[in-house]
Amino acid sequence: MSKITITKTTSSNLAHVDFDNLPFGQVFADHMFVADYDGQQWTNMEIKPFGRLTMHPSMLALHYGQSIFEGMKAFALEDKTPVLYRPERHAARLNASATRLCMPEFPEETFVEVLEMLLRLDHQWIPSEPGSALYIRPFMFATDETIGVRPSEKYRLIIFTQPTGPYYAKPVKLLAEHNYIRAANGGTGEAKAAGNYAGSLLPAKIAKAKGYDQVLWLDATDFEYIQEVGTMNIFFVIGDKVITPATDGSILRGITRDSFLTLLTDAGYTVEQRPLGISEVEDAYDRGELKEVFGAGTAAVVAKVCEIKNKDKVMKLSVEDYKVAPWLYDQINGIRNGSISDKHGWLHPVALPVSV
Ligand code: COI
Repeated sequence: MSKITITKTTSSNLAHVDFDNLPFGQVFADHMFVADYDGQQWTNMEIKPFGRLTMHPSMLALHYGQSIFEGMKAFALEDKTPVLYRPERHAARLNASATRLCMPEFPEETFVEVLEMLLRLDHQWIPSEPGSALYIRPFMFATDETIGVRPSEKYRLIIFTQPTGPYYAKPVKLLAEHNYIRAANGGTGEAKAAGNYAGSLLPAKIAKAKGYDQVLWLDATDFEYIQEVGTMNIFFVIGDKVITPATDGSILRGITRDSFLTLLTDAGYTVEQRPLGISEVEDAYDRGELKEVFGAGTAAVVAKVCEIKNKDKVMKLSVEDYKVAPWLYDQINGIRNGSISDKHGWLHPVALPVSV
């Protein structure tokens, strides 16, 4: 493993950022990490000013989609110590996605070390407003210059960061999709593969035109079993149970999903991870037992769902009566800002150099 060189920016953009008005995904912090895989090992590892890339027109990622990413966040404790949220889990998931897409793994320890270095340089970019965070986007793509269909030998890994506000500013409306699928058993649904998102854009556009914010994905065989929303995993409170679809290979193994399952279990909720049919949700709605539906994701955190449409049936939900979703939101934010004890060790504090 070669060493990581650092070139600091000479023209920070920090002073130009309106931290009271942070749209998701549009503001970029000063530095980024770049590394190249040369077919044998990761080389040319450097942190440098955030900027544009140059690329060859035949770069394989552009043609056959060998491209994966992660979404993770950093926060600041009250004393301003930067903390990464479950970075080891994100490193492991990046590598699981890499394996599925026939790409090289990136060493987990180096991944965490790089994130620490980036936060030491750009910790002032971590917003402090509740609900905001420094979003971290690691991604890896194939860089061989050829158009032969084969796994690339060379790859690039980049990590940049973005101060960001909430992904969904208000409760969302979901449309259950019966023509298109996101993922099928044996496919790439569990990986954070760029192509999974590309394939979801047309159905999402159609759903938007019908007045819905997102697609609720169903299984590829029967269009019955609920998978996820594409930008987040999904939870249902039916009676006194909290139910989320089991990860079966076609659903992303969400790290927020995992955190919520742990928090709910710790607090004594009855939690079920199992196949959940849209008909079961409709029946629960008709019986008055569908109490809450909410999404869980790194970007979304907790997104209350106020309506689901499945074929002709419209299920409207009273988000103002939700109890579990706001409780989870308070718990996860409390852990992240240090006001609730981090008993599972999810926070990874980053020591800053002592200023003199
Ligand atoms: C995330 O929650 O971090 C995601 O990657 C979802 C999305 C913004 C594509």
